[in-house]
Amino acid sequence: MGDYLIVLAGVPGTGKTILARYLSRQTQLDFTTLSWITLEHRAWSGYDSARRSFIVDPRKLCENIRREYSKGYIVETHWLGFLEECRLEPDTIIITRTHPLILHKRLVRRGWPKRKVVENVEAEFLGVIVQDVINSQYKTAIILEVDTSNADPEILSRKVHEAILSGRIPPEFSCCRDWLSLLAPEEQEILFNILSTTT
Ligand SMILES: Nc1ncnc2c1ncn2[C@@H]1O[C@H](COP(=O)(O)OP(=O)(O)OP(=O)(O)O)[C@@H](O)[C@H]1O
Ligand SMILES: [Mg+2]
Repeated sequence: MGDYLIVLAGVPGTGKTILARYLSRQTQLDFTTLSWITLEHRAWSGYDSARRSFIVDPRKLCENIRREYSKGYIVETHWLGFLEECRLEPDTIIITRTHPLILHKRLVRRGWPKRKVVENVEAEFLGVIVQDVINSQYKTAIILEVDTSNADPEILSRKVHEAILSGRIPPEFSCCRDWLSLLAPEEQEILFNILSTTT
């Protein structure tokens, strides 16, 4: 897997980093995140204090990716637009998904502002990252959708690795979940209450 590029995309808190750490060990590929590259190389153009996040400077970001990551690696991101900006063709895209109410608990635990929590739970509920992947024209060999709501990340990672090596997508990783149809009516009610609190 010497020059293999794996992109892990998902809403914050959906388990990208944990999965990537296991996958990195199993595949022997380096692991990085777009945020680390951005911070380490000051590849930002400003700071959005409301969202508590840096605004990426795509030119600087791509320069650094090209310089430091010419070989295979695993990269974690919330923003898939960097692939086109940096003219990268991933071999596999893994989309991490999490039950919106479980994600809500995880993000509240982080102590994030309510607005940021709700925005991200809503993004997961609506499947915005999945839509980004579907709408983009990657010639990617494999797209895997992985539900990290209650799974053991090490076992999950092993299954992901097997799918990558075989080039076959097992049913449990096939895209794309629609949370609306999967949530029980009482879960929907709790979720809609959460989503309507601050927006
Ligand atoms: N497979 C899993 N099963 C159960 N819980 C998980 C799983 N993966 C992650 N979690 C929980 O979710 C939390 C967030 O995971 P992680 O930091 O990997 O998310 P992330 O997608 O990398 O977030 P960010 O985008 O903010 O970096 C973990 O601290 C853990 O509690
Ligand atoms: Mg992470």
